[in-house]
Amino acid sequence: MASESDVETAAADLRRQLAARLEKDGWLRSPEWRAAVEAVSRHVFIPRFYRESVGPGVTTWEPVTPETVGQEEWLRLVYSDETWMTQFDGRDIDWADPKPVSNAAPTSSSTLPSLVVRMLEDLDVHEGMNVLEIGTGTGYSTALMCHRLGVESVTSIETDEGVARRARQALTRAGYIPRLLVGDGRAGHLDGAPYERLIATCGFRNVPPAWLEQVRPGGVILTTLRGWMRSLGLVKLIVTGDSASGWFSDDDPSFMIARQQDAPESLGMVPGPGDGTTRKATHGPEVLTSSGPAFMAQLAAPDARFFAMPVDGGPVCTFLLDSVTDSFAVLAPTDSGWEVRQGGPRRLWDAVESAVTTWEEYGSPNAAAFGVTVSHGQQVVWLGNPNGPQWPLPT
Ligand SMILES: C[S@@+](CC[C@H](N)C(=O)[O-])C[C@H]1O[C@@H](n2cnc3c(N)ncnc32)[C@H](O)[C@@H]1O
Repeated sequence: MASESDVETAAADLRRQLAARLEKDGWLRSPEWRAAVEAVSRHVFIPRFYRESVGPGVTTWEPVTPETVGQEEWLRLVYSDETWMTQFDGRDIDWADPKPVSNAAPTSSSTLPSLVVRMLEDLDVHEGMNVLEIGTGTGYSTALMCHRLGVESVTSIETDEGVARRARQALTRAGYIPRLLVGDGRAGHLDGAPYERLIATCGFRNVPPAWLEQVRPGGVILTTLRGWMRSLGLVKLIVTGDSASGWFSDDDPSFMIARQQDAPESLGMVPGPGDGTTRKATHGPEVLTSSGPAFMAQLAAPDARFFAMPVDGGPVCTFLLDSVTDSFAVLAPTDSGWEVRQGGPRRLWDAVESAVTTWEEYGSPNAAAFGVTVSHGQQVVWLGNPNGPQWPLPT
């Protein structure tokens, strides 16, 4: 495969194969979105990208370009159902000579196509609707919407200038010129409002109030919510005047956190050996890593993060630190289970255990049993129904 027309012919074939697979797997449910996947060339949006390299030790990312892996393999990877990274630590990459990257956090990517189309299907969008996208990224999802709805219906906001510039170039190359903005998507874009639909492809700790003002009553906000420990999942909110409410999906898709809401660099002050008060713990640190309980821990301790390390040459203890309120919980193994030492204004482990107990009393449900209600004063996640047990989102 050498000439540009060979690439285009092969890409068209791969797009059809990708669409067929996404349909077979249940992600693509409508002929309109299938047509968009078959029409929009993902390779225009990710001419070069990074993949995680397999091997022991630190996570390393290696560049994938037609030069590094060969044109055929590059194109095959472009049209596979994978997320491909395009930026790390918010820094521009020298795409003329991309080098392997390690010890870095991905800050922009082309999301895996199955998640993109699943969200587009969930968005329940139709011709004539005005849509606001937060997190343009490479521009691929923007292009799918432009194909389906027309450029005049699509506004997309990207926070990173370099990422936004490349997306604009790729979209223009693909023949789409929607309204593209550089800025913090939490402010939305008032001039383009009202929107019938808002879709966010980065994760937020809460639902930005401006979105409620800019999405029309009856409109939909589709976003992932996440904390500093883990993702809470995908929530679909229906706007009703100055509030919005809706349910989580039954899985927990995850997006990179909005740049402005990333966790502070410092984990918080590590408590000294005599700090805090100690009690027997009902649950050990496994709560922080097993799916349902970890969801509850994220709700109960929204500003916390955890790590494990041996203390004074003794056993490995788990530290749960909340750097916002300077609260801590330290879990240490005992002969019969775990004990917890807590200090600071928030009793973190009390809150985590209480949330896990509530979840167990409700039959240990998955995320689909939870919902969110957002109003200007307050944002809460509830269990079962809007009047059920509640946990505030950090605002
Ligand atoms: C997973 S990528 C988006 C993928 C994109 N939809 C695609 O198909 O290529 C998330 C993007 O959100 C951007 N982002 C992060 N915080 C943002 C914010 N506050 N406002 C707008 N964009 C933001 C990141 O820079 C990144 O490019």
